[in-house]
Amino acid sequence: MAMTPVEALNAGFAQSGAIRFETRFDGPVACLSHRGSTAIVALQGAQVLSYVPAGGTELLWLSPVARLGTGKAVRGGIPVCWPWFGPHPEDGSKPAHGFVRAALWHLTATSAEHDGVRMVLDFDATAIDPALWPHQAGVTLSVELRDKLKVTLETVNTGSTEIALTQALHTYLAVGEVCDVVISGLDGRRYIDQLDPSAAPVQSGPIRIAAEVDRIYQGSSDTVTVADPSLKRTIQIAKAGSASTVVWNPWTVKGARLGDLGADGYRHFVCIETANAGADIKTLRPGARHSLMQELSTGPLLKSA
Ligand code: BG6
Repeated sequence: MAMTPVEALNAGFAQSGAIRFETRFDGPVACLSHRGSTAIVALQGAQVLSYVPAGGTELLWLSPVARLGTGKAVRGGIPVCWPWFGPHPEDGSKPAHGFVRAALWHLTATSAEHDGVRMVLDFDATAIDPALWPHQAGVTLSVELRDKLKVTLETVNTGSTEIALTQALHTYLAVGEVCDVVISGLDGRRYIDQLDPSAAPVQSGPIRIAAEVDRIYQGSSDTVTVADPSLKRTIQIAKAGSASTVVWNPWTVKGARLGDLGADGYRHFVCIETANAGADIKTLRPGARHSLMQELSTGPLLKSA
């Protein structure tokens, strides 16, 4: 009898005690574990859906109505926005945030060592309809679970034309009450306010969220910290290959319009996105590659936060 997709994944890629495959949210996912830390990664969209650090609680928000296989990206976790961030720059009829977040990726490798576990997924962008995207590229997402969670999105231009790439690891961080969190690491950075693109404000001090927020911070390569008094923790988002950071929360009206957040979902996450967006466009000549990396970790809440 033919193996089910999950059986085939386990036969080819399971790592004893470290990586196994299951059906969750109606689709195939990889369940990673390492020294008390766990992560769940969907093959759809190469989307990390869960990360629980050893001794801690869930760092990623996932909509209670999340389902794989609907043709839409799952709301929550870490969707991959590629090869454009936000609306397509010239053609609004193309999907927002590119076309890989709802597509099935191919698992190419897993490994389990004493210091962590790793899986690698590929998206083959050589076969994309040129009407959607007239380039060729190889795209790889690797997920490494160690004492932190490291996600790396690598693009190589395998075609003969230059690629202007914008992208994001669109991370939904789980928070107790979004209006109580304090986001630091972006002080003094100029940002594009997507709710009022004519303005080019400069951030002064930490960010607090008390209304819809949709901003692309420019010149921001530093670690961002989210202090969460309700959950009594901080989350650190460290990164490389990214000089822009998106901060997003839809708040009440847009949250209701989105329709896939669950009741009051907006209160329980903030997106801190490791991006190349706004003026931070990566130009890849034929043969060139770019790597976008994000590392998540958590720590105690400092008294001053
Ligand atoms: C953010 C954008 O990155 O993603 C917002 O800055 C957008 O403008 C949000 O609303 C969610 O996008 P989507 O396509 O997942 O609903």
